[in-house]
Amino acid sequence: MSLNQNALFQIGYGLYLVAANENGKDNACIVNTVMQVTQNPIRLLVSISNQNLTHDMIKNTGKLTVSVLTEKTPFSVYSHFGYQSGKKVDKFEDFEDVTRCANGCYRLNRNSSAYFCGTVCDSFVLDTHTMFLVDVTDADIVSTQTPVTYDFYQKYVKQPYKPVAKKVVGQTNTDGTNADVGNGNSTNAAKAEGADGTKTNSYVCKICGYVYEGESLPEDYICPICKHGAADFEQI
Ligand SMILES: Cc1cc2nc3c(=O)[nH]c(=O)nc-3n(C[C@H](O)[C@H](O)[C@H](O)COP(=O)(O)O)c2cc1C
Repeated sequence: MSLNQNALFQIGYGLYLVAANENGKDNACIVNTVMQVTQNPIRLLVSISNQNLTHDMIKNTGKLTVSVLTEKTPFSVYSHFGYQSGKKVDKFEDFEDVTRCANGCYRLNRNSSAYFCGTVCDSFVLDTHTMFLVDVTDADIVSTQTPVTYDFYQKYVKQPYKPVAKKVVGQTNTDGTNADVGNGNSTNAAKAEGADGTKTNSYVCKICGYVYEGESLPEDYICPICKHGAADFEQI
């Protein structure tokens, strides 16, 4: 028996920007978990981590918009929407290339091949994530660009080992909820000395570049940025 997490990347995922609006505040995050599940009516399933602000906004409003990302979508879009939370920054403060859909949520004007606006008709709580079943109310093609796959993103778009955040040495947090996600560059801290004099190691998340520093990486550690588990970290 083996459980190789890399096998998950062989599933033919796309990548999407899921946007929500609550009480006039806009927010969005990157997900790979969108699929069409029925044709009449057209329904999508969208699964989002309970820790994401976008999750809370969709839960409270029952509205979301999915923009399909393309092979031309630059890494900056992934890092802007996927490596930081709207709980800490206003992601749309300087991001204006969007159109507001009839359901009140933004869709991308560029770097997108299509969009779907919808209303949540059911939801399922799956431990760490909520799966939203969405009635599509509005959809259209935006460009002829090729939709991106997770595999393409991993091979050609993702920029390796460029952490946008680091964990403060000495903190222990196995669920990521209280991790310090302030900016920092810790790639040269492969074997640093902690404040208490103990040797520390650095482990980088292969998905998003977040660097964890500590004596060892807890087996149940969850990346506070992209929510992938310890299996997706490697020591640097
Ligand atoms: C390539 C990529 C794929 C991601 N896939 C998912 C996903 O399927 N589900 C999810 O909940 N978060 C996913 N994330 C992480 C969220 O986008 C990230 O946690 C985001 O900062 C949440 O923002 P929010 O708190 O403003 O909603 C992904 C991030 C990246 C970069």
